Amino acid sequence: MTDGYIFNTAEDGEHERLRVQAEMCDRLTRRRIQETGIGEGWSCLEVGGGIGTVTRWLTGQVGSTGRVVTTDLEPEWLRELDADNLEVLRHDVSADPLGEAEFDLITVRLVLVHLHDPRAVLDKLVTALKPGGTLLVEECDLSTMPLSDPPDETWHEVISALISLLASMGPDPYLGRRLTRMMLDAGLHDVDSEVVAYPKLMPESPSLQVQVVKMRDPLIESGRVSQDAIDEVLARFGDPTCDLVLHNSTIHSVCGRRPG
Ligand SMILES: C[S@@+](CC[C@H](N)C(=O)[O-])C[C@H]1O[C@@H](n2cnc3c(N)ncnc32)[C@H](O)[C@@H]1O
Repeated sequence: MTDGYIFNTAEDGEHERLRVQAEMCDRLTRRRIQETGIGEGWSCLEVGGGIGTVTRWLTGQVGSTGRVVTTDLEPEWLRELDADNLEVLRHDVSADPLGEAEFDLITVRLVLVHLHDPRAVLDKLVTALKPGGTLLVEECDLSTMPLSDPPDETWHEVISALISLLASMGPDPYLGRRLTRMMLDAGLHDVDSEVVAYPKLMPESPSLQVQVVKMRDPLIESGRVSQDAIDEVLARFGDPTCDLVLHNSTIHSVCGRRPG
C-alpha cells in the first residue's frame, strides 16, 4: 500500500467491490464528462483507474487521434484493457511526478479520499491540465449512508460504526462536501457541482452489501458493533422480502476549468 490507500487489489472480493461501485457511478461520470464537450483528439488522464470502466469508455470517446493515460498504484486490471490510444502507468499520484499542461481532461473518482493531502494533489492535477482544460473530481459524503426508510436502528448502528472505523483508518468520510471549496481554492474557474444519491431497496443494494461484507471482521474486531447486529444486517441483504430503502452515500461530482 502507498499513501493512505486502505484496500488492497490482491484481497478477495476487491474486484467485485470496485465493479459494483463503478456500476453505480458510471452513468453520472459519463454524463459529466460528456458535458465537458469531450471528443476526437482529446488528451485525457484518469487517476486511480481501478478496474478501468471509465478508462475504457474514454478511449472510445477520443478516437484514434486522441490519447488516454490511466494510472493506479496497482494497475494490473487496467493492463487488461486493450486499446491503441491507451497508456497504462503504475503511478502514485501523491509521490510521483506529473507533466505540465498536458491534458484536456483529468478525471479522478473516489481516489482523493484515500490521500493524506488531497489539496496538494489537486494543485498537481491543475498544473497537468492544459490552459482551459477540465478537472472532474468525484467523491462521497457518507453522512447519508446510515439513513433508511423507515429508519432502522440496527442498520444505523452498524453503518455509523463502519464510518467511524473508516475515519480511524485515514479516509475522510465527508470529503465530498469539502470538494467544491477545494476546487475553488485550487484556482479553478467555472466550478460546477452536482450531488446525487441512489436510494434502493436493501436486497437490491449490492454496493452497500459488498462494503459491509468487506468490513465485517474488522468492525467486530474493533469492538464498535456486535457480531449479532452485523450478521442481522447481512442476512437482510439476502432476504428478497426485506423492504427497507437504504439511502446510500451521496456522490459529489465537481468540475472546473484551468484558467487560460
Ligand atoms: C475506490 S477505488 C476507485 C477506482 C475508480 N476510480 C472507480 O471509481 O471505479 C480507488 C482506486 O485508487 C487507487 N489509488 C489509491 N491511492 C492512489 C494513489 N496514491 N495514486 C494512484 N492511485 C491510487 C487504488 O489502487 C484504487 O484502484
